[in-house]
This record gives sequence, C-alpha cells and structure tokens, in this order.
Amino acid sequence: MATSSTAFPKLGRAWWQLSAIKPERNLALELVRVTEAAALAAAPWVGRGDKHNADDAAVRAMRFILGSIDIAGTIVIGEGEKDNAPWLYNGEKVGNGSGPEVDVAVDPIDGTSLTANGQLNAISVIAIADRGSLYSPESIFYMDKIVVGPEAKDQIDINAPVIHNLTKVAKAKSKRLSDITVMVLNRNRNQTLIDDIRNAGSRIRLIQDGDVAASVMAARPNTGVDMLMGIGGTPEGVIAACAMKTLGGTMQGRLAPQLPEEIKAVNEQGLDITKVLTIDELVRSDNAFFAATGITDGELLKGVRYQAEGATTDSIALRALSGTTRRVLGEHRPEKLVGLLGSI
Ligand code: FBP
Repeated sequence: MATSSTAFPKLGRAWWQLSAIKPERNLALELVRVTEAAALAAAPWVGRGDKHNADDAAVRAMRFILGSIDIAGTIVIGEGEKDNAPWLYNGEKVGNGSGPEVDVAVDPIDGTSLTANGQLNAISVIAIADRGSLYSPESIFYMDKIVVGPEAKDQIDINAPVIHNLTKVAKAKSKRLSDITVMVLNRNRNQTLIDDIRNAGSRIRLIQDGDVAASVMAARPNTGVDMLMGIGGTPEGVIAACAMKTLGGTMQGRLAPQLPEEIKAVNEQGLDITKVLTIDELVRSDNAFFAATGITDGELLKGVRYQAEGATTDSIALRALSGTTRRVLGEHRPEKLVGLLGSI
C-alpha cells in the first residue's frame, strides 16, 4: 500500500496528468458557507435558554445560503415532515438547481440544548452525497452506533460483546484496554453499555448532546477519543457516516427504536432491527461531502467568536472521493452580514 512518503512524490510526478482530467468541484468548500451562516445566526442565542429561537435562526440562515449552492438537492434528513417543519423539511428541494442531483442531510444545530445553555460542542452540520445514496431513517429516530478511526476500521462488530470491541480497538491502536476512551451519550438507555465499558476497565467520556462532533473526534488523530458507542439519533448517524467516508474510519449502526411510535412503525413497516447497517449502506456512494462549523467552543471546532471588527468561525470541510480534510477559518464583517441575514 502506498504510504504518504511514496504517494506524495508519485502524485507530484503525475500532477500534469491529473490536471489533464477536468477537476470536479469540491462542494464541501461551498457547504462551509452554509454551516458558517447557520452558526453565525445561532451564535447570538448562545446561553439565552431559548432552543427554539436558536434553531429557527440557524435553519433560516442555512436554507438561505443553501439556495445559492450549485446543486439540485433534495433534503432526505431534515427538520422533519413538511407539516411540522416549514423549512428544510424532508423532501424539500434545495440548492439553485443547476448542479448535480444530490441527497442533502442537514442539522442546522447539533446540540440545540448545548447552544441554549452555552455549553461546549454545539455545531452546525450538513452532508451531501449522490442522489439516492443516503440511508433514510424514515420514522426510526434512534440508532445504536459504533464509530472508530482508520486504525481500527476492520475490527468492530456491533453484534459482539462490548469487551470484544474494546479489546480489538485497543490492539489495533497498540494501547492497553485502560487507555481506550469511549464517548457515550449520557442517557439511561446507554447505562448497560456504560457499565460494560467501565467493567472492561476502559475510560468513558459522557456527553450531554452532540454525537456528530463526537463521531468525528473518534476518527480524527490526537483527539484523545478512540471510539463512539451507544444509542443516539439515526439522522446524526447518517451525517457522521458521510464524514467517516473521508476520514477513513468506519461506523456500524443498528436501528434501536425507543419511543412507542417508533416501535409501532417497526411493526407496521416490518423493519428488521437486528440488521447491521454498514457504512456503505448508510452512505451508498463515495461521492460524499461534509461540512461543519462550531457554534459554541468545542474540542473539534472553536465556536463563533466576536471581536470589535467582526466575528470568526472555525469549520471543517471533508470530501470523501479525495479524502481531503480542510480546516477553514472564516472572518466575517457584521455590518455586511446583518444586511444579508436580515433579508431572510
Ligand atoms: P438536537 O440538537 O437536535 O437536540 O440533537 C442533539 C443530540 O444529542 C444528537 O447529537 C443525538 O444524536 C441526539 O440528540 C440524541 O437524542 P436524544 O436527545 O433524544 O437522546
């Protein structure tokens, strides 16, 4: 396998040949404008105890900028059905219609409570992939997930006991079991998992919300996080799977209905909740893009910061086909943005 020390000289020599091929646009860079706008719109609501208005501001800003992007997009993971979500609802057409046909998954704020309470790790996030390629969670909101980075990508099995996965990941990363850190959403439904991880001697980082950022952290180097495990949102799982396609990590999911209406939907639709959803079933294309911007400060991204002359944003842009990760620092002028956002 080519390593970076052999692949980069080769790439250098072949660059003229590559440039003969028409390079495709990296839509992730454009998507950063979308998440930046949502984060900037949500930021004034940080710590104000108002989830609803924070989300509303982020949704409006995201939709406004999304309308300028060269895609013929269809929201497949959005703010809900048309009846309860006026914007960014499932099935809504987004983009300016002039580019490729794509599925769009949005989470204008992953961590609405974190935003309202001024807590760490709230982000705005979007992912797109070829039309028809994103898994659609339908009416099952919850999914059991396991996410790891590239070193351990062939080692996990969501059906295996927790200790098995921890041991395999520890070995793949040349660590002791006690060195492994797992991020888990702090919910009653994850208590057995939490006990199992503790009994195995591994470490846990309980998070209050925001398992998209946590998934990305599990797959990025030097974050201090080795895995994400446990039951969280299905939409967030599909969005995180798009990121994994670039980061070289992997994810397995399994529907985990919790609510009476989900259990009813499982029975009515005959869904198989034992089926393991692989990363390639969650995202059935390698032509996927992911962008996220920090709203509040976090370990993955800094939050929106205000200075006398404007505001800064910190974003990440991922393109699965090239495997490129970019970090984007945005400097924004409020006097111009007020005019821009005021018109939506
Ligand atoms: P919201 O910001 O949309 O509320 O989602 C936050 C979140 O913590 C997700 O990151 C996670 O996947 C999901 O909620 C878990 O759902 P619940 O809060 O119902 O346990």
